[in-house]
Amino acid sequence: MEKQRLDKIIASTGRFSRREVKNLARQGRVLVDGVPARSAEEKADPETARITVNGETLTYRRYTWVMLNKPAGYLSATEDGRGATVLDLLPQDLRRQGLFPVGRLDKDTEGLLLLTNEGGLAHDLLSPRHHVDKVYYARVAGRLTEEDCRAFAQGITLEDGLACMPAGLEILSAGQESEAHVTLREGKFHQVKRMLASRGKPVTYLERVRMGNLTLDESLPRGKYRFLTPEEVECLRKF
Ligand code: URA
Repeated sequence: MEKQRLDKIIASTGRFSRREVKNLARQGRVLVDGVPARSAEEKADPETARITVNGETLTYRRYTWVMLNKPAGYLSATEDGRGATVLDLLPQDLRRQGLFPVGRLDKDTEGLLLLTNEGGLAHDLLSPRHHVDKVYYARVAGRLTEEDCRAFAQGITLEDGLACMPAGLEILSAGQESEAHVTLREGKFHQVKRMLASRGKPVTYLERVRMGNLTLDESLPRGKYRFLTPEEVECLRKF
């Protein structure tokens, strides 16, 4: 692989920022194949060089995957003149890596959003052909019924004639306001809201809690992100 600057390679692992790498290199604490680097600008082949920082050997990953617990108020885009995007929740070092959101959540929807710079896998995860379930927690106005569940299972046709694939509706509580888990295999614009609105139960709150075999990390505060582990990325590849 083409050689890259050490600060770029090390920052891409998420363990240290470029600024930290600069300081650590000055102190002789960044080693390339056992030899202290002269500066953070020195270049190395990220796939073959053994890079240690503060005695810790780093594992280079070609692509970056992060899980974000999206808060309401952010757009699922890389740039948008209309307001803050989910990229604004990531540090500069990560933004520089060309990350983009894997699919979209509405501005007011919260929860699990993956961001990556691995286009191929991101595309596959979103394709309905690959049957990756997306699970949402929804609160709606009105009482959800077994009839709603049957309609979801059969496949709802929206008011504009758009036919949705069969979907799951699991009622968690039913009353004047109800709660449910909705499972989709596709991701049409405002789909959960439109499906529930077509049953006369408008959504009052929506959160994505699972995508494929990846569940929103409960220890991840709203607005914060973490890197996916290599095992989690491998799991995504096996969807
Ligand atoms: N369905 C919606 O209606 N909104 C989302 O953000 C995601 C799925």
